[in-house]
Amino acid sequence: MSELHNIVLKILEKGKGILAADESTGTMTKRLNNVNVPSTPENRLLFRETLFSASSMSECIGGVILYDETIKQETSKKIKIPELISKMGSTPGIKVDTGAKVLAGSPDEKITEGLDGLRERLKEYYKLGAKFTKWRGVYTITKNFPSKLSMRSNAHSLARYAALVQECKMVPIVEPEVLMDGEHSAKECYEKTSEVIKRCFDELILHKVDLKGIILKPNMILAGNKSKNTISNEEVAKLTLKCLKNSVPSEVPGIAFLSGGQSEIEATENLNLINKYNDTNFIMSYSYGRALQQSALKFWSKNIQDIKGTQKVFNHRAKMNTLATQSKWSKDLEV
Ligand code: 13P
Repeated sequence: MSELHNIVLKILEKGKGILAADESTGTMTKRLNNVNVPSTPENRLLFRETLFSASSMSECIGGVILYDETIKQETSKKIKIPELISKMGSTPGIKVDTGAKVLAGSPDEKITEGLDGLRERLKEYYKLGAKFTKWRGVYTITKNFPSKLSMRSNAHSLARYAALVQECKMVPIVEPEVLMDGEHSAKECYEKTSEVIKRCFDELILHKVDLKGIILKPNMILAGNKSKNTISNEEVAKLTLKCLKNSVPSEVPGIAFLSGGQSEIEATENLNLINKYNDTNFIMSYSYGRALQQSALKFWSKNIQDIKGTQKVFNHRAKMNTLATQSKWSKDLEV
C-alpha cells in the first residue's frame, strides 16, 4: 500500500475526522471580532492551542488543517504546534492556497490562487511536519453559474496543486466548495455540484494524481440559504450520496465534508444520516471548521483562561461528529 494511502487511512481511522483550523488571519480576525476578542497573534494561538491540547485530539480528530501563521508558532510550553498535534496522536496539515480572487473573464466568480512558488512552499511545510494539505476552490450557484470557465480553471488549479503535493510526499485535500448562498433548490445544487466534482476528477486524472492518496472535501447537497424550498435531512443525505456515487471514482478512499455555514447540529445530523445510508466503500467523515469550533469559541471568548471548560465544549462537538461517522449519533446525546 502506498505511503500516501496510509496517511489517508490514518487520518480517517476509527471514525476520526479533521479539524479545519486554517482560517486566514483575516477570517480569524472576523471570527474573534464577532465574539469581542482582540485578534492578536497571542489570542489566535491561545484559542488554537487550547483546542489542540484537548483529549478529543487523540480520540476523534485524525488531522488538523493549520494556517501558515499557526504552523510556525510555539505553545506557551515552547512546543512547536505540529509537534503538539502529533504528540496528541493526530496529524498536522496545512492550507496552501493563497485565497480566492476575482476570476478574469467572469468577474462575479472566483479563482483560487497560490500555484506560483508552491513546490518550494510545500518543501518548507513538509520540513515543518505537515503530512497533508488543503486547497479550496469556490463556486457560486446562480442561473448561469458556475460558468464553464470557473469550473475548468478551478479544476485545473486543484489538479496542479494535488500533483505537486503528492510529488512532495503529502496527501492533498481536494476541496471544491459549491456555496450554499443563494435561492437555488437542492436539485440545482445536486446538478451543479455533480458537474463541478466530475470536472475536478477529469483534471486530477489528466495530471496523473494518485486517487488512492487524496481526500475529497465536498459540500453536502443542500437547498440555498435563501431558497423557499427547503428539504429534509433525510433528503440531504440521500441526494449527497447519490451525487458522490455518480461523480467520484471508486479508488478515492475518503470523503470529508465541509460544514459550509450549517449549524453545528445540522452538520452532525446530516453526516449521521449520510453514514446511515452509505452503501459505498467511501469513508464518509468530516473536515469541519465552524461546525466544530463555534460553541467552543463562544464559550472561550467569555472565559479566556478557562482551558478545561473550553476543551469540554470542543470535545463534545468532536465526539458527536465522530459518532455521526458511525451513524451512532442521536439528538438526545446533545444536552
Ligand atoms: P467550514 O466547515 O466552516 O465550512 O470550514 C471548512 C473549510 O475548511 C472551508 O475551507
